Amino acid sequence: MFTRPVTSRAAGLALLAMLSIDGITLALGQAPADTESGYSPRGADTCLACHDTGADAPVLAIFETAHGSRDDPRGPFAQLQCESCHGPGAAHAQRVRRGESQAPIRTFGPQSGTPTEEQDAACLDCHASDAGPAWHASTHAFNDVGCASCHTVHTTSDAVLERAQQPAVCYDCHQRQRMQSTMAFTHPIRYEQMACSQCHAPHGSAGEYALARASVNDTCFACHAEKRGPFLWEHAPASEDCSLCHTAHGSMHPALLRQRPPLLCQQCHSQAGHPSVPSTPATIPPFGTSPLSLVGSCLNCHISVHGSNHPSGSTLTR
Ligand code: HEC
Ligand code: HEC
Ligand code: HEC
Ligand code: HEC
Ligand code: HEC
Ligand code: HEC
Ligand code: HEC
Ligand code: HEC
Ligand code: HEC
Ligand code: HEC
Repeated sequence: MFTRPVTSRAAGLALLAMLSIDGITLALGQAPADTESGYSPRGADTCLACHDTGADAPVLAIFETAHGSRDDPRGPFAQLQCESCHGPGAAHAQRVRRGESQAPIRTFGPQSGTPTEEQDAACLDCHASDAGPAWHASTHAFNDVGCASCHTVHTTSDAVLERAQQPAVCYDCHQRQRMQSTMAFTHPIRYEQMACSQCHAPHGSAGEYALARASVNDTCFACHAEKRGPFLWEHAPASEDCSLCHTAHGSMHPALLRQRPPLLCQQCHSQAGHPSVPSTPATIPPFGTSPLSLVGSCLNCHISVHGSNHPSGSTLTR
C-alpha cells in the first residue's frame, strides 16, 4: 500500500492529533495519482500548505467529521483526499507570482462557478445509493439545488442533519413555509420536536411533494395512526386526503384547519335540507338566530369527523 507522508507543518493541530494515531501518514487506498492525470502527487499535504491558516482554518474541520477518517476505505481520505471532491488540483496548487491568481478548481455551493451537475457528480460517486433513485427526477435536482445547497462538509456538524437546525437551512429558500411556521397553530417544528424530513424525503421520492411516504395520508399515518381506521363509516375526504381540511405547515385555525367549521364543511356540503338546521332558525330556539352561530357548529353533532366505528354512526354523529 502506498502511503502519503504528511510532512507540512500544514497538518495543523487538529490534523496532527488525528494523524498521530497511525504514525503521521495518510493511508492512500488506491494507486497514487500523478500530475499527468491532473491530481497533485502529494494530495492533502499540497493543499494544506496553503489552506491551513487564517480565514481558511475552517477547512480543517473536515477532519472532525465522518469524511475526515482515514480508516474508512470508502472515505475521501483513504482515496484522493481533498481531490476526491474538489477534483484534479495540481494546476491550481502551483505557486503563482504576486498579482496572478491560482488556476481554478472545482468549488461547491449555490454561489459556485462549477455547474451543479458536476458538483453533485463528485458526491454521487460515493453516495449514489444514499441519495437514492429518486434524486435525479427530484424537484430539487431539477431546480439546480445541489447537494451542497443543503449539506456542508467543512463544518463539525452538518446543520441539515440536526433536527434543531434543519428548518433554518430549508427556510433560506422556502420563505412561505418560514412564514407559516410562525402562525398560531403549527406542527411543533419551532419547538425543535420535529424536522421537515419527517414528512419530506429531501432527496426526492416517488410520491407528490417529495413526501416521505407514497401519499399525503400515508405520511400523516406515520404519526397519527389512529386516523387510518379502518372505519365502519368512513368520511370520504378523510380517507382520501387529509390536506383537504388540514394544512401541514401552519394555520390561523385550531387543529391546523384550512377553514373554521362550518365554512370548512360547507365547501362541500350544502345546508339545504339538513334535518337539524332549520330554514327559519328563529323558530327553533336552541339554534339561536342562525344555524351558523352554533358554537363549534357542525362538530357539536358530527363529532367523528374522521370516520366512525359506531353501528349507528353513519352520519358521523357518534
Ligand atoms: C500555492 C497555494 C495553494 C495551494 C497549494 C492550493 N491552493 Fe487552493 N487556493 C489558493 C488561493 C490563494 C485561493 C483563493 C484565491 C483564488 O480563488 O484564486 C484558493 C482557492 C481554493 C478554493 C476555492 C475557494 C473559493 O471560495 O473559491 C478551493 C476549493 C481550493 N482552493 C482547494 C484547494 C485544494 C483541494 C488544493 C490541493 C489540491 C489547493 N486548493 C491547493 C491557494 C492554494
Ligand atoms: C470518496 C467517497 C466520498 C465522497 C466523494 C463524498 N463522501 Fe460523503 N461520506 C463518505 C463516507 C465513507 C461517509 C461515512 C458514511 C458512514 O459512516 O456510513 C460519508 C458521509 C456523508 C454524510 C453523512 C454524515 C454524517 O454525519 O452522518 C453526508 C451528509 C455526506 N457524506 C455528504 C457528502 C457530500 C455532500 C459530498 C459531496 C460534496 C460527499 N459526501 C462526498 C464518502 C464520500
Ligand atoms: C434539500 C436539502 C438536501 C439536498 C439537496 C441533499 N440532501 Fe442529503 N440529506 C438531507 C437531509 C435533511 C438528510 C437527513 C435525512 C433524514 O433525516 O432522514 C440528508 C441525509 C444525507 C445523507 C446521510 C445518509 C442518509 O441518507 O440519511 C447523505 C450521505 C446525503 N444526504 C447525501 C446527499 C447527496 C450526495 C446529495 C446530492 C446528490 C444530497 N444529499 C442532497 C438534505 C439534503
Ligand atoms: C467530501 C468532499 C470534500 C472533501 C474531501 C474536501 N472538500 Fe473542500 N469543500 C467541499 C464542499 C462541499 C465545500 C463547500 C463548503 C462546505 O461544504 O463547507 C468545500 C469548500 C472548500 C473551500 C472553500 C472554503 C469556503 O469557505 O468556501 C476550500 C478552500 C476547500 N474546500 C478546501 C479543501 C481542502 C484543502 C480539502 C482537503 C483537506 C478539502 N477541501 C476536502 C467538499 C470537500
Ligand atoms: C437552495 C435553495 C433550497 C433549499 C436550501 C431547499 N430547497 Fe426545497 N425547493 C427549492 C426549489 C427551488 C424548489 C422548487 C420550486 C418551489 O417549489 O419553490 C423546491 C421544492 C421543494 C419541495 C416541493 C417538492 C415537489 O416535488 O413538489 C419540497 C417539499 C421542498 N423543496 C422541501 C425542502 C426541504 C425539506 C428543505 C430542507 C431540508 C429544502 N427544501 C431546502 C429550493 C430549496
Ligand atoms: C407534518 C408533515 C409536514 C412537515 C413537518 C413539513 N411538511 Fe412540507 N408539506 C407537507 C404536505 C402534506 C405538503 C403538500 C400539501 C400542502 O402543501 O399542504 C407539503 C408541501 C411542501 C412544499 C411544497 C409546497 C407547494 O405548494 O408546492 C414545500 C416547499 C414544503 N412542504 C416545505 C417544507 C419545509 C421547508 C418544511 C420544514 C420547515 C416542511 N415542509 C415540513 C407536509 C409536511
Ligand atoms: C413525525 C410525526 C408526525 C407526522 C408525520 C404528522 N404529524 Fe401531525 N402532529 C405531530 C405532533 C408531534 C403533533 C403535536 C401534538 C401535540 O401538540 O400534542 C401533531 C399535531 C397535529 C395536529 C393538531 C392537533 C391539535 O390538537 O391541534 C393535526 C391536525 C395534525 N397533526 C395533522 C397532521 C397531518 C394532516 C399530517 C400529514 C400531512 C401529520 N399531522 C403528520 C406529529 C406528526
Ligand atoms: C373533513 C375535514 C377533515 C379531514 C379530511 C381530516 N380532518 Fe383531521 N380534523 C378535522 C377537524 C374539524 C378537526 C377538529 C376536531 C375537533 O376540534 O374536535 C380535526 C382534528 C384533527 C386532529 C387533532 C385532534 C384529534 O382528533 O386527534 C388530528 C391529529 C387530525 N385531525 C388528523 C387528521 C388526519 C391524519 C387526517 C387524514 C387521515 C385528517 N385529520 C383529515 C377535520 C378533518
Ligand atoms: C372536501 C369535501 C368535504 C368536506 C370539506 C367535508 N365533507 Fe363531509 N362528506 C364529503 C363527502 C364526499 C361525503 C360522502 C357523501 C356521500 O357518500 O354521499 C361526506 C359525508 C359526510 C357525512 C355523512 C353523510 C351521509 O349521508 O353519510 C357527514 C355527516 C359529513 N360529511 C359531515 C361533514 C362535516 C361536519 C364536515 C366539516 C367538519 C365535512 N363533512 C367536511 C365531503 C366533504
Ligand atoms: C344539532 C346537531 C347537528 C348540527 C349542528 C349539524 N348536524 Fe348534520 N346532521 C345531524 C343529524 C342528527 C343528522 C342525521 C339526520 C338523519 O339521519 O336523518 C345529520 C346529517 C347530516 C348529513 C347527512 C344528511 C344529509 O343532509 O344528506 C350531512 C352531510 C350533515 N349532517 C352535515 C352537516 C354540516 C355540514 C353541518 C354544519 C353546517 C351540520 N351537519 C350540523 C345533526 C346535526
